[in-house]
Amino acid sequence: MKTLVIGGGGREHALALALSRDPNVTEVHAAPGNPGMAACATLHPVDPMDGPAVAALATGLGVDLVVVGPEAPLVGGVADTVREAGVACFGPSAAAARLEGSKAFAKDVMAAAEVPTAMARVCDTDEEVADALDAFGAPYVVKDDGLAAGKGVVVTEDRDEAVAHAKGCVRVVIEEYLDGPEVSLFAITDGETVYPLQPAQDFKRALDADQGPNTGGMGAYTPLPWAPDDLVEDVRRRVLEPTVVEMAHRGAPFSGLLYAGLALTKRGLRVVEFNARFGDPETQALLQRMDSPLGVLLLAAAEGRLHEVDPPTWRGGAAVTVVVAAAGYPESPRKGDVITGVAAADALEGVDVIHAGTATAGDDLVTAGGRVLAVTAVGDSVADARARAYEGVDLIEIDGAHHRTDIAAGV
Ligand code: AMP
Ligand code: GLY
Repeated sequence: MKTLVIGGGGREHALALALSRDPNVTEVHAAPGNPGMAACATLHPVDPMDGPAVAALATGLGVDLVVVGPEAPLVGGVADTVREAGVACFGPSAAAARLEGSKAFAKDVMAAAEVPTAMARVCDTDEEVADALDAFGAPYVVKDDGLAAGKGVVVTEDRDEAVAHAKGCVRVVIEEYLDGPEVSLFAITDGETVYPLQPAQDFKRALDADQGPNTGGMGAYTPLPWAPDDLVEDVRRRVLEPTVVEMAHRGAPFSGLLYAGLALTKRGLRVVEFNARFGDPETQALLQRMDSPLGVLLLAAAEGRLHEVDPPTWRGGAAVTVVVAAAGYPESPRKGDVITGVAAADALEGVDVIHAGTATAGDDLVTAGGRVLAVTAVGDSVADARARAYEGVDLIEIDGAHHRTDIAAGV
């Protein structure tokens, strides 16, 4: 099987690596990819947002499967264009990706499917915003309705800050604050069959002890030894399956990766958000533990015959990912800083250094994005994997870079 991964971040590197380790996969291509992915894939300088160019690349290479990584091309309909060109594509249609692309749409689907989520109001005017803030009270949760690259959500005790964020959005969703540990649970689906993966946890805030601004994610680990035994079944039954059924019912069947961001509150589980693609950086940890051939699973989902393949199986032990972020991330990440130590970290037993925001400049590897590297390690336990991941992080040097020191601590 020949495959093509669209995108060039940490998630796409993790996908390309896992595909390259699937014995059924003979070729891995990526567009545009990143310098780290060059070790496991052939890179092509094609814009992921350009559907016709992606489809032309796929047909030109004769690939059997295209995997679209990021949300922006999915929401923009790149998967539709690839499928129209006759190539199997893992990733939802633009219509189905609205589950991520519009918070208001996601809330509507959840209400119809009776999926537990935070109470919310969609507001179009300043008065509606003020009323909703007062109705739910602090802490205030204010979400931009559209895609905002991880910057759309503000959670704050400060009413003025909540109002200011709402003013910056065209349409805003204000909702009840959900208290409790967050869990990311992904499912591979073809629009009918739903195969949940293992639960993972992401660390969204920039600084230790969950301080600082929200980011795209500073680290992750899997599995969650503290999670209730019936969590995956519960989420499948109450969240994933009803959502997939509701999307099909609306004529927008969801085929691809359905990401449920959950809060385990005192009053039970609630959906915080849906995403329409693999999570970043949870995927980097998760795929290290997947035993099943990834290409076979994704192709079966893309071809609408997921029931023909077995559900994914998992290796024992655990995986931990620690993100190394550029100076200034998340506000204004600095580009062009030289990165050293990657080869030494990658050579450690059980460690893979996944590239997220890197570029080459002459002979140097340099920073090219906010999240630069995702140092990922496997081990017999979370503690073991964590120790290895931080051993890797310690070998990497980038001027001004920062990382959290408490990823998967005390688990
Ligand atoms: P989202 O983009 O919806 O995932 O929101 C980003 C982050 O904001 C989430 O991972 C949570 O940490 C936080 N968040 C979102 N909605 C809520 C909520 N209703 N209550 C508490 N925290 C939330
Ligand atoms: N890990 C958060 C995200 O992928 O949205």
